[in-house]
Amino acid sequence: MFTSVIIPAAGAGERMGTAVSKQFLLLQGKPIIIHTLERFQMCGAVNEIIIAVQPTTRQQVEFLVGEFNLSKAAKIVEGGKRRQDSVSNALSRIDPRTEIVIVHDAVRPFIQQKVILESIEKAKVHSAAVVAVRVKDTVKVGNDEGRFERTLDRSVLWSAQTPQTFTRQLLLDAYEKAGREHVEATDDASLIERLGIRPAIVEGSFDNIKITTPDDLDFANVLVKRFKD
Ligand code: CTP
Ligand code: MG
Repeated sequence: MFTSVIIPAAGAGERMGTAVSKQFLLLQGKPIIIHTLERFQMCGAVNEIIIAVQPTTRQQVEFLVGEFNLSKAAKIVEGGKRRQDSVSNALSRIDPRTEIVIVHDAVRPFIQQKVILESIEKAKVHSAAVVAVRVKDTVKVGNDEGRFERTLDRSVLWSAQTPQTFTRQLLLDAYEKAGREHVEATDDASLIERLGIRPAIVEGSFDNIKITTPDDLDFANVLVKRFKD
């Protein structure tokens, strides 16, 4: 099945706070976004990669894609204000043959092949699949007065990561509905859930971190040394 990967890479990285957006920071001498793109370039099940970027970084991304021979990353589109706008712009450029769409953050370079493949397989069966890990901490609901209201049942809680993988029409429908109803979401699966679909869980790894803050970068420099597929 023709499979497209969308890599939203148009964020400003405010929480990282570096002058250069975090997706361009180096891990072992290579930009984070390149580590991430290589995971999908090498995946036999992937046919094309579409990257959403800020206009100011387009040239740099085009150069890097050439330098690292990322032949599947032939489409670079303009990102939007919110992550969901970036994904939506990329979605409008998927190949007409596409049946499966994978969305994966540019700043999650430690994704394993077996997890990508399982997420594709589960999306084929269940229409939607989300990589996630079990929550380790006890999660409580706080209120405005600085008090906890209650404690959630940890046995049913998961931290959602990416990849999040969908059948093409389902993701298009979800984005169309979200646009129409002005819904904002921090991940793609929540837009699918609004259609009444319950995405399949793909149990992933705690190493698949989203590099967000400076301490994540320290951890990423440790992980990159031991990362194996
Ligand atoms: N992203 C995007 N377009 C946006 C915002 C985010 O393509 N308008 C991408 C980021 O580049 C990143 C992924 O979505 O690959 C996850 O977002 P996040 O970790 O929040 O990155 P940033 O938005 O860049 O960071 P921050 O929220 O700290 O500013
Ligand atoms: Mg953000």
